[in-house]
Amino acid sequence: MKVANNVCSRPVFTSTMTHVYDASGNIINCHYTKINRRDINWGKFPVLLSNRYCKQERVPVNLFGSSDGSDVYTLIINLMKTLGNKAKKFFPILASDISPETVKAANESRILLTAQDLDYIQKMDADRFFERDYNEKVQVMREVKFFPFKVKNELRDKVDFSVQDVRKAVKENNFSDSVFMFRNGWGFNTLEEQNEIAKSLYENSNCKTLVGIGQSNLYKSGASDALQRNNFKGIETDVFTFFETDYPAQYVGTPKTKPVFKEFGFFEKK
Ligand SMILES: C[S@@+](CC[C@H](N)C(=O)[O-])C[C@H]1O[C@@H](n2cnc3c(N)ncnc32)[C@H](O)[C@@H]1O
Repeated sequence: MKVANNVCSRPVFTSTMTHVYDASGNIINCHYTKINRRDINWGKFPVLLSNRYCKQERVPVNLFGSSDGSDVYTLIINLMKTLGNKAKKFFPILASDISPETVKAANESRILLTAQDLDYIQKMDADRFFERDYNEKVQVMREVKFFPFKVKNELRDKVDFSVQDVRKAVKENNFSDSVFMFRNGWGFNTLEEQNEIAKSLYENSNCKTLVGIGQSNLYKSGASDALQRNNFKGIETDVFTFFETDYPAQYVGTPKTKPVFKEFGFFEKK
């Protein structure tokens, strides 16, 4: 795999993906993501999962709002590196997004990677899972180069991608003994919808359910409050790093007031 050496100089958090706005100028969707998002210590996450589910033979891991799969591939690479054969019980990971176009690309194993992404992939010795796709053009978004890649089967077959609306999924599915991640997408849903997601999730989960959100949810949504208002409690863990910085933007589900409860990245039932 060729690795581009022009390390991009974008600020810590500047979205490179297209934003969709409503009539009032609020952002109603954006697929921004990247490999190794800094709000999670991905190296430590597998240990948390392995300890929490040590008695289960199979553990469903649901990643809603998975965008192009960057988060899910980061997780799989780290699970395999840390747990080896024992990672198997978490596969295939169930990744989904509300956007059919995004899921189509992910299903076709297509992913756009920046120099920063490639740097991490190389450090993790995960180059063998990605192949440069020279049939597709390099894209430049806000001065950042995105190189088209194909995810190879050895990695790709450890995830199932589907189109899912988390607002519906929490009403129809049960997440007992499972991981439920909806990272950095809560703010694209209204505060009322966020409350409904948390409420339904509480009804459809048990004490083993691990709920994960992202740090942009702390800046741009009421996810942490919605979960705690609905009887989830925050988990103190250094797996959630709080390393991502805030950025100027107003989402459709950004609260106008400060959080009521202490903020967390992981939650479980009280
Ligand atoms: C900013 S991206 C975050 C991607 C990735 N989880 C991460 O943290 O890097 C948020 C994603 O959530 C998705 N999303 C927004 N509302 C959703 C909903 N109601 N159900 C499922 N996905 C949703 C968007 O389409 C988008 O791809």
